[in-house]
Order: sequence, then structure tokens, then C-alpha cells
Amino acid sequence: MDISIEPTGAALGAYVHGIDLNDPIDPKIKNQILDAWHEHIVLIYPDQNLTQKAQLSFASNFGRLGTRSRTAKARPEGVEFNPSIMMVSNLKNEKGEYIGSLPDGEMYFHHDMCYMPEPHKGTYLYAIEVPSIGGNTQFTNMYQAFDRLPDSLKLLLKEKTAVQVYDYGLTSTPDLKKGFEGIHHRSQPIFIEHPDTKRTALYVNRLMTAIIDGFDREESDEILNKLHQISEAPDNIFEHTWSVGDLIMWDNFASCHARTDFPSEERRVMRRCTTAGGKMIAAKNSA
Ligand SMILES: [Fe+2]
Repeated sequence: MDISIEPTGAALGAYVHGIDLNDPIDPKIKNQILDAWHEHIVLIYPDQNLTQKAQLSFASNFGRLGTRSRTAKARPEGVEFNPSIMMVSNLKNEKGEYIGSLPDGEMYFHHDMCYMPEPHKGTYLYAIEVPSIGGNTQFTNMYQAFDRLPDSLKLLLKEKTAVQVYDYGLTSTPDLKKGFEGIHHRSQPIFIEHPDTKRTALYVNRLMTAIIDGFDREESDEILNKLHQISEAPDNIFEHTWSVGDLIMWDNFASCHARTDFPSEERRVMRRCTTAGGKMIAAKNSA
């Protein structure tokens, strides 16, 4: 078996061909995938046919499987409970409850689990049902975002941290007036060193970054807006239109992702798992 890597031509991302993710991965292929992942950040495997078990088994090649920070209230019928699986879906059961998480609509750019003490590094999302339009996933290259910052911002924010929050149900910017009581939150470095590539990445996002520590609200908002504008520039984004059977693995330490809007009456069912990362490391030479 030989795989081929086809870059998307955008700021990040590559398609991986010639592999059935149901099969065991030998060490040579695993190293090719790791090299491609480190280079392209987002890897898309089209035309897969994956059970929950096969998805978890594939992901476990790249780290310890993550478990969810909260448990789902309901699940799609026939879906076996596993603490490492999250169903991302807008379907409802007969009681009118959503059977999955993050059900409808647009979702701002974010890093998965940046509000946890040890954020998960890899996310693996598999498409089971997709809407006819929208519900695309956009990715930003956060290495390039850092590289594009003006030196004045690199200097100003060197060794600074920002508060990352997760408010259940949040799909847009955090509301600071409510405070952080009772919600997951954590200060993380603004410039991080990737544990594998050792490259510096920008680590703030529009959905979950509430405030830069040590700055007042107005000043922090102004700086964060500049950072978001740079990371979300059209030429720093790859946008994926899902087909059933796509599996995407992405690196949360080097990218952010967002979801475009889609018609709420259409079905969208995705299966997600993650692999562990570790404590975020502040970049040493960020200016
Ligand atoms: Fe996410």
C-alpha cells in the first residue's frame, strides 16, 4: 500500500489517497501520515466507510484517545456509548431533544478544548450525513497567522496569556459581563510552541478567547480583533465542503476551525473523536 498526498492549494490542508482507514497502519505509512500532518496541518481522507470502532482505532495511532469534558444527554438510535465519541448533529429524538452537540447554524473560529488545562491535539471528524448546502468547515493556518503579525504585535504580546472560555451552547464571542464563574476557562499562552514541529503558532480565536491577561477590556478587544483579522484572512483559510465518507484529522495546535451556516431543516450528522495533547508551551522566541 502506498499513499499519496495532494495539497489543497490553499493555505493549509492536503488530501490523502490510497488508504482504507479500516486497515491497520504499518509504521512506514504512519510516519508518512505524521510528516504530512505536520506539514499540512489538516488531512482529508475521502471515500471512507468507517464504523465508530474503526475511527477510534485509526485515531489511536496518533495519541491517547481523548474523553469528553461533558456527556451527551441523548444519542442517535443504535449509537453505542463511548466516552471518546461526540456526535455533532442537528437531529432531534422523539422528545424533541438534540441527539448530538453543536446542532445548528454557523460557528465561529475556535481551537477545540483550548479552555482545558491540557487541550487535545488532534480532532478526527467523520461525515455520516451532510446537508445539500453549507455546513462547511473552514480552517486557518495559525503558523502563518503568527508569521504575518507585525513585529510590534509580536513584541507587545511576547509571553502574554489570554483567557480561553467555554460556555455550553456558545457559538459566538464570549460575554464577559457574565464573568467566568461556573464555566470552563483557562489562561493559555498567546504564542505557543508546537510540541512536534517546534514552530510558533498564534493561539487565540474568535469564539473562545475572552480577554488578554493584564490588558483592559477595550485594549484587549482592539488587539484581539487585529489578531482575528490576520488569522481569518481569506488567503489564510482552507474551506472544506463535506461529502459522506470524508474523515478529516486536524491539528488543534496549528489551526482553528469554523462552520458555515446550513439549512436547519436538513440533516447533518458527524462523528468526532480526539487524541490527547498536553499543557500548552509558550513560544520562546516569539519576537
Ligand atoms: Fe470544534
